[in-house]
Amino acid sequence: MGDTQLIQEDIDSWETMMFLYNSAIKEVGTKLDILNDEFVHIHKYNPIEYIKKRIKTPESIVKKLKRDGYDSTIENMVNYINDIAGIRIVCSFTSDIYRLAAMIGNQNDLTVVSIKDYIKNPKASGYKSYHMQVTVPIFLSDRVVDTKVEIQIRTIAMDFWASLEHKIYYKFEGNAPEYISRDLRACAEIVSDLDAKMLQLNEAILEEKEKQEREKKQ
Ligand code: GTP
Ligand code: MG
Repeated sequence: MGDTQLIQEDIDSWETMMFLYNSAIKEVGTKLDILNDEFVHIHKYNPIEYIKKRIKTPESIVKKLKRDGYDSTIENMVNYINDIAGIRIVCSFTSDIYRLAAMIGNQNDLTVVSIKDYIKNPKASGYKSYHMQVTVPIFLSDRVVDTKVEIQIRTIAMDFWASLEHKIYYKFEGNAPEYISRDLRACAEIVSDLDAKMLQLNEAILEEKEKQEREKKQ
């Protein structure tokens, strides 16, 4: 709570706030690059397919504050909007998600504030993803400010579904006909089956490779 207090008192302008969120995205982005590089270095395997970073637009910040019944003030944004700085990590397999989440959790200077596992507990929409709310210290010349970043980790298949669902949801402004919502949920099932199949296939490939290596050595 102390840190939140500090942010509240010290941030007096939109520019300062945006500067902090931009810096936080850079910090976390660099950490993820390093984790990925180290992983490639050790395991000769790249767990991250791609990373998307974004800062929430002023319009969408104001819209969310309104939705949640808050006035549009800097203080309310800092306190109540947790995804102004957002990083989306897209990986190949579901197993990569948990591996990356553990690696992120082990970073000493990142504080994991909360986790929502929508893979174990998918949303009613069918949405699946692993969400981590973290803070990262931003070292300014005269102070340190812990800044919030939302990290979403998902597979390519989950990302494919979420991107399309998001577009459709927006087309209907949340009032999609029931049969469309139902079909989207059915698509989410297909996507999950595909993820499970691909994971199985990958495990079979790794096993097969190991077997071949062993045979070569004999
Ligand atoms: P907001 O809904 O953002 O206020 O936050 P929350 O506290 O409900 O967090 P939650 O973890 O549920 O969702 C945050 C983000 O996850 C959203 O901004 C989206 O990027 C993504 N998300 C959540 N649910 C869905 C969904 O049903 N479909 C899609 N496409 N994305 C979703
Ligand atoms: Mg939500």
